[in-house]
Amino acid sequence: MPGIAIVGLQWGDEAKGKIVDFLSGSFDIVARYQGGPNAGHTVYYKDTKLIFHQIPSGILHPNTKVYIGAGCVIDPVVFATEIENLKNLGIDYEKRIKVSYKAHLILPTHRLLDVSIDDKRRDKIGVTGRGIGPCYEDKHGRKGLRVENIERREFKEKVTENMKRHYEILGIHPQNLEEEVDAFIKKALLLIPFITDVSLELSKEVKNKKVLFEGAQGTFLDIDHGTYPYVTSSNPIAGGVFSGLGIPPGSIEKVIGVAKAYTTRVGGGPFPTEAEEKVASLIRETGNEFGSTTGRPRRCGWLDIPMLRYAGVINGVNGMAITKLDVFDDFEEIKVCVEYKVNGKRIDTYTPLISEKNIEPLYATLKGWKQKTHKIRDFDVLPKNAQKYISFIEKETGIKVFMVGVGEKREETIITPYFSL
Ligand code: IMP
Repeated sequence: MPGIAIVGLQWGDEAKGKIVDFLSGSFDIVARYQGGPNAGHTVYYKDTKLIFHQIPSGILHPNTKVYIGAGCVIDPVVFATEIENLKNLGIDYEKRIKVSYKAHLILPTHRLLDVSIDDKRRDKIGVTGRGIGPCYEDKHGRKGLRVENIERREFKEKVTENMKRHYEILGIHPQNLEEEVDAFIKKALLLIPFITDVSLELSKEVKNKKVLFEGAQGTFLDIDHGTYPYVTSSNPIAGGVFSGLGIPPGSIEKVIGVAKAYTTRVGGGPFPTEAEEKVASLIRETGNEFGSTTGRPRRCGWLDIPMLRYAGVINGVNGMAITKLDVFDDFEEIKVCVEYKVNGKRIDTYTPLISEKNIEPLYATLKGWKQKTHKIRDFDVLPKNAQKYISFIEKETGIKVFMVGVGEKREETIITPYFSL
């Protein structure tokens, strides 16, 4: 019974958290394969808004186990806070969180380096400041600390050595290094009960359990396949599932790609369909497009079909979830980019090789529906122009839409006739 992967088709923030939350009640396991606390998955639990950064939000479903794979990076301080929150909510989590001993640890100095390195760049990436890049840098430079190190005798020595090295790069002479190291270790020790060999366990589980693979960030933030260098340091695409968790290819039966009804991005980098400020701010205010990790206002623009075509191909998307359709409820007209003109030539599929300066997006204009959609649960009951908008996306991408989001809450979701898992 191979699993389902949920991946972002844009630059992250596609409301994957809501789709995962909607589906994860019917899954035995939710597994994260990349990224760390740079992600912010917003979900509602008994009418309380919760934002998870490190632990998969599937933990809110009482029978779902959650896995954090080798491809992830873990900040023990963030992890400890989320455990505390779960405890306060009265959620029974102890036996349902599994952390790979191979995942890497984010040290407090990784966070300092992250901000300092980005500040010095001429073209800022606009990182989340969670220490993601420097932690993956240490991993790939074979200098990092893994979760397994927590249980080893020389852990304190290694943490001290690494933090000293980071402080040297930063040009800082720490006054209380030992205190900082001890405070970090105290949090890291809290991970011990959850450590396991995720690859072995999950490879077995995926044979007879329903597993949902939860991507963080999105296709165009992928370190290899995104808009480099304006990307994150991991592989959010569906292919990342296998290396990130250490499970066999063939473990995925279906890929659901999540895209918003429009496009946003946080931080620097190309954005062909970025709207002028009047439209951008209307989308931003209506869609509450402010970062759930950093609170930063997101850049906003129209839906970019050439991007979805590219993401559809490289992720092998079987069906899409189009989220936040309700943001357009009061719009007279909606533009959708269907092709680009690059140096006089028309191009229908995005490629990260295209430089932003050469791109002229070519738009189709669709009529709005001027009607509230929050309460609608049936595709056929959606206003005709909203149905047309969804059908237009399907026709242009060649990918069926399985689900449509019409609000923030789990139940504000429409299942289309094409939905199948
Ligand atoms: P980093 O992942 O913190 O290194 O940030 C690298 C780039 O990815 C920046 O442009 C961030 O804004 C973006 N980014 C990282 N995580 C997310 C996310 O969860 N949603 C949207 N953008 C993200």
